[in-house]
Amino acid sequence: MKIIMLGAPGAGKGTQAQMICDKYSIPHISTGDLFRSNIKNGTELGKKAKEYMDKGQLVPDELTVQLLLDRVANDDCKNGYVLDGFPRTIPQAEVLDKELSGLGDKVDFAINVDVPDENIVRRMSGRRTCPKCGASYHIEHIPPKKEGVCDRCGAELIQRDDDKPETVQNRLSVYHEQTQPLINFYDEKAILKTVDGTKDLNDVFADIVAILG
Ligand code: AP5
Ligand code: MG
Ligand code: ZN
Repeated sequence: MKIIMLGAPGAGKGTQAQMICDKYSIPHISTGDLFRSNIKNGTELGKKAKEYMDKGQLVPDELTVQLLLDRVANDDCKNGYVLDGFPRTIPQAEVLDKELSGLGDKVDFAINVDVPDENIVRRMSGRRTCPKCGASYHIEHIPPKKEGVCDRCGAELIQRDDDKPETVQNRLSVYHEQTQPLINFYDEKAILKTVDGTKDLNDVFADIVAILG
């Protein structure tokens, strides 16, 4: 099963992707997490990506597409995967389509986690993430069992550099300009499913499971 998560920054793509992966035993592939791990390891790619990410802009397609294609070529992707944060532009979606159809394959579902802008900024300020496994928490709504520590892997939680309110605003406008058009793109392919991302995370997940079967 190949699934794409669509939605604004902070809509809960990462949270739901992780739950889907735990249930269906397929890998969770987040381009944001791949960039952040490159930044942490001080790679050339990480240095370039950081310039864009810190401003809330998209990393150019040239740096993003190959990274993703290499990742999905890994053995662990044979039974499918959940893409979280990719594609984010129409050209990225077209490359993915072309690559998959070359393999006689296709995306099965594009799940749009719908959350209005008003809710987003509030969510981001309370977010804490795991730098090791990518798990996402919220200090009020979804706290870890032990404060500041990841439930899944025990690493110390951090606040993301791009979660400052002014950067969040910028990420939201970039989303509306460059990523929202993908909703139509996948609707035309008849694989778009929209869920109400303002519900409790377990209710959102139940709606997603009802779609995936
Ligand atoms: P990326 O890491 O993908 O960030 P994003 O899209 O801005 O999305 P987030 O990770 O911020 O939000 P999310 O939807 O995963 O929400 P989460 O589950 O954490 O990308 C970062 C940057 O990398 C981009 O800005 C860009 O520069 C670059 N980049 C990445 N991919 C790229 C690409 N393909 N092309 C170009 N550039 C790229 O949830 C948010 C918070 O809400 C958490 O605290 C969570 O606990 C809480 N929450 C979740 N669900 C609920 C709920 N139902 N109720 C209450 N709280 C909830
Ligand atoms: Mg995320
Ligand atoms: Zn972790």
